[in-house]
Amino acid sequence: MSGEAITGPPRSLFSLSGVKAFRATREELRRARHLPGYVYTSREFEEYEKDRIFMRDWLCIGRVEELPNHGDYMTLRIMGEPILVARDGKGRLAAFSNVCRHRGVEVAQGAGNAREFRCPYHGWTYDLRGVLKAAPEMSDSAAELGNCRLPMLRAEVYRGWLFLSFDPDAPPLAATLADFDREFGWLRPEDCVLADKTVIDLDCNWKFAVEHLMDLYHLRAAHAEGLAPPCRGNQDRAVKLLPRGGYSLHFEVAPSAKNGLSPFGKMPWLMDRPDGLACLGFLAPNLNFAARVDAIRHLVSWPLAPDRSRLICYTLLPAEAFGKPGFAAMLGAYANCLRRAVEEDRAVMQSLQNGVGSRHFEPGPLSSLEGPAHHVINNYLNAMTA
Ligand code: FES
Repeated sequence: MSGEAITGPPRSLFSLSGVKAFRATREELRRARHLPGYVYTSREFEEYEKDRIFMRDWLCIGRVEELPNHGDYMTLRIMGEPILVARDGKGRLAAFSNVCRHRGVEVAQGAGNAREFRCPYHGWTYDLRGVLKAAPEMSDSAAELGNCRLPMLRAEVYRGWLFLSFDPDAPPLAATLADFDREFGWLRPEDCVLADKTVIDLDCNWKFAVEHLMDLYHLRAAHAEGLAPPCRGNQDRAVKLLPRGGYSLHFEVAPSAKNGLSPFGKMPWLMDRPDGLACLGFLAPNLNFAARVDAIRHLVSWPLAPDRSRLICYTLLPAEAFGKPGFAAMLGAYANCLRRAVEEDRAVMQSLQNGVGSRHFEPGPLSSLEGPAHHVINNYLNAMTA
């Protein structure tokens, strides 16, 4: 798709100057420019992202280990949409809109274990499959409540990861994840267990978090004494661009622990792989993937407002690691390392947000190390203008 006439979106979003700016982003990498600032600051853009992207794509919302028992549930909000996910008495996971059929109050809050969900306002009660079971003092009403239930959403599990789609016509999850699975499925996340879930709120647009997490260009300048990995091989050349804005990068780095050894050891099924094995990747719209020989991470960026986002970092370890002596302390150090890495970059992400809001900001050219970001933002434009 090039930047010619765009007919779908509202005129105000894709004005002539916008189309021109997008054309610059759509150039080949060595001629391309970054996106204009209003893509990261505009409330209008955010609302359009909701319709065009978040209400259509499959979204990674967690791990099955978060809901291990019958009656376990969790709630979340995605761009203002309240969601309820529950495991029923037969062990099945289901997702609903967490919106009471009476007046819309959220029927469940937080996370926990329940036999049913009782709306806190007037007491309408739903079972774990979202079916209305009781509606007090409604017998005089002419309303037909026999088939009343919370609106169901599509939910599927991929190798232990829980995905949700608001779109009843979205393609099957397996088809959407085929390329991602080909690149990273051999790491066997289904044989791992969620060890840590870290939630970090950022004062920047969600796309800055996504782009930043795949930005190899900043490592030497911004992490000269910290994170810069001593790379073996040319990372730039190893990047594989995948359909739908995905990418994968397989390379080698020094192990993340200071003494050069992973505290958890290799995943048992990766014993024949190098100690410094590392993978990076992306699954649209908001999942940055990272793995080392000992752990797998999903880093999921959620919009909260045009200038605020929430990064949720899931760390998986093989089940065998949990039995190692000193596991809790080792895991604490591991989680701190991740937190420190994000904190090192918090200021620069916030500064990006400040800078693109300036009337003097003009999108600059991309480095050859920004190939993944170029691919991802072009896929974003495809989704927004399709
Ligand atoms: Fe839920 Fe009235 S809003 S019972």
